Amino acid sequence: MRHLLSTKGIDRAEAIGLLDIAEDMADVANREVKKLPTLRGKTVVNLFFEDSTRTRISFEAAAKRLSADVINFSAKGSSVSKGESLKDTAQTLAAMGADGVVIRHQASGAPQVLAESGWIDAGIINAGDGTHEHPTQAFLDAFTIRRRLHGAASRGKDLDGVSVTIVGDILHSRVARSNLWLLTTLGAEVTFVAPPTLVPADHSSWPATVGFDLDAAVDAGPDVIMMLRIQAERMNAAFFPNSREYSRSWGLDDARFSRLRADSIVMHPGPMNRGLEISSKAADSAQSSVLEQVTNGVSVRMAALYLLLSGDREDS
Ligand code: CP
Repeated sequence: MRHLLSTKGIDRAEAIGLLDIAEDMADVANREVKKLPTLRGKTVVNLFFEDSTRTRISFEAAAKRLSADVINFSAKGSSVSKGESLKDTAQTLAAMGADGVVIRHQASGAPQVLAESGWIDAGIINAGDGTHEHPTQAFLDAFTIRRRLHGAASRGKDLDGVSVTIVGDILHSRVARSNLWLLTTLGAEVTFVAPPTLVPADHSSWPATVGFDLDAAVDAGPDVIMMLRIQAERMNAAFFPNSREYSRSWGLDDARFSRLRADSIVMHPGPMNRGLEISSKAADSAQSSVLEQVTNGVSVRMAALYLLLSGDREDS
């Protein structure tokens, strides 16, 4: 794997391979075993043009546990705020000898531009681009579901027949898109539930069912319910729903949570708007995997860095 830009186009064997490597990394990721020397001498740059807590920190932890040198770059406080372009920023990083670049950018497609530009010869990982994709989030979600369902026997397993209901702001969610492609490749059945104003126009071509009734979706008893954050920063006033109305119709509140199947897994990529898309009772319950998702993010990002940066990189 030369770059990780999208989950679309990754085949089932490749996806299971990455998840299995993440399993191999888990003891190191969780600090039960000392760090690995695998990426000693390599430099990973975290290039973040948008805010992040989980993704940036877990990529930093992942790179360090593989013994890479890590440079953290945030657009705030850099020469980007003086108008420096992505090209000049990339060429500056190339001059510093970056082997891998983890990029989060507000523009959909920015990681692909970087990968195809020739400005820098490095493995590029998309850490979230606009409303397009967030592939490592989808991998950590798939890893978390697999572990919840299969425990220590997860290696080699796909998600055949697992029902996953993804709820909320689908329109602006790169997490929803990356999960759609990855989870369906792994055999899961994906249902989106959202207000009509927050469903993309092109959804009819997606391999997913789209519904508008969260109560019916909860009562259907999905194996997994994934609540999405309302992305207020990507909405104009015409899209932004009334918070009370949103919570009443589209939130996993206490009443809906109490009707959910007792073994349904409750997921949220974070950061959560508690009381809006998810109640604290649901988020903090034993059914919730929110913190496991964060922990598993380190294993999955170690696997991605390993695949891109260890040995000679291959075109794919
Ligand atoms: N899930 C996720 O991408 O979180 P951050 O924005 O904190 O990185």
